[in-house]
Amino acid sequence: MATGWGPQDRTARLEPGAADAAAGHRARLSAALTGATVVVAAGHAPIRSNDTTYDFRADSDFVWLTGAAIEGAVLVLSPAAGTHDATLYVPAPQRAGTTGFFADPMHGELWVGAVPGPSDWSAALGLPVRPVQDLPDALVPNDRSEAAQTHRRVLAELRMIKDGWEVEQLSRAVEDTVDGFAAVLAELPAAVAGGGERWLQGTFDRHARTVGNGPGYATIVGSGVHAPTLHWVRCDGPVVEGALLLLDMGVEERTLYTADVTRTFPVSGTFTETQRLVHDLVERSHRAALAAVGPGRDYTGFHHAAMEVLARGLSDWGLLPVSVDEALSPAGQHHRRWIVCGVGHHLGLDVHDCAQSPPDRYLGAAMEPGMVLTVEPGLYFQAHDELVPPELRGLGVRIEDDVLVSATGAQVLSDALPIDAPGLEAWLSGASRPGPVRRGAG
Ligand code: GLY
Ligand code: MN
Repeated sequence: MATGWGPQDRTARLEPGAADAAAGHRARLSAALTGATVVVAAGHAPIRSNDTTYDFRADSDFVWLTGAAIEGAVLVLSPAAGTHDATLYVPAPQRAGTTGFFADPMHGELWVGAVPGPSDWSAALGLPVRPVQDLPDALVPNDRSEAAQTHRRVLAELRMIKDGWEVEQLSRAVEDTVDGFAAVLAELPAAVAGGGERWLQGTFDRHARTVGNGPGYATIVGSGVHAPTLHWVRCDGPVVEGALLLLDMGVEERTLYTADVTRTFPVSGTFTETQRLVHDLVERSHRAALAAVGPGRDYTGFHHAAMEVLARGLSDWGLLPVSVDEALSPAGQHHRRWIVCGVGHHLGLDVHDCAQSPPDRYLGAAMEPGMVLTVEPGLYFQAHDELVPPELRGLGVRIEDDVLVSATGAQVLSDALPIDAPGLEAWLSGASRPGPVRRGAG
């Protein structure tokens, strides 16, 4: 088994621009952590059961700093003359000549295909790369150490500001996600005919896996009474005429940047009067939130703007047991029964990006150019909610856009999808939908 094997192509493939962007990110981290040794591991695929694993998804900090997703790799930044030297440690491939080549189903090249080694990665990344066995014991990452946690927080803060290349990745992710909405809606008849929510979930996931790396989070497809469940990923229900269909979906690009977009469609093509009433209120809330996004604005401003519109609308419908002012006060929040989640979050390599940053740098900060946020107000009336009239029970509506804070205002990246009820009806009818998927595998 050890001999008689010719050479193989082990070129390490990176997405265009990824290595240069990562070099820029390392420079920013180096400036923020002068004198510190920083160790960031890519991680391993988690065990699914027995000897099978989930797909490997590299740690986002590692990807931000290297541009690559290499299972088992570790990046070390060592302080040197006011800056840092970077060294990447990668697992040695189990090639012909090693026992693992044929005996290790997890890593052996006869089992998993050709794997780039240190010299291949070094050529692709422009970094010194060594086998992971050479990683000094003192540098084996301990994610619970105080230093590691501080570094995580600093990385989360830095990752909030996207550079031009990252904005391009997020724009592509949104564009591919919009195509995914079109692919899913084209399958609506099959879903109604018996495929149900899961057919639509599978349709989006196949699309995301074909044009990108896959879905950036578990795809949410909630039809009818499932629409008000915030993260309905079980998707084991039918899709029935007359119901609403909430689709919350994001393509993660091969660079691992993800979109996160939600629209709510009427399965039969036209909103009923009550569905339209709810959608219109969420749309007004959404527009108020979008208007509150811009450089120098409080991060929480768009949340409050959205909530105020929702609270007033719910009050007009007679649903609030107190005045709007009391509901909006910190001690009130009665309207939150119908929107328990926040109205948005940072978006990037993670769908809930930069969540490790300290609260005063996230919720308590002002918006800056280069931030990318989601804006996602909604109203969620559970089927078993006895505090709302029967016609509202089982209705759920969310509108979610991905928004870039620019130097002068905000740019909605997902504006190829309408946010108003008539626009959604037209889009559903196919009148203004894009054609077939633009990019395939390759
Ligand atoms: N779209 C899923 C979420 O934001 O939680
Ligand atoms: Mn979201």
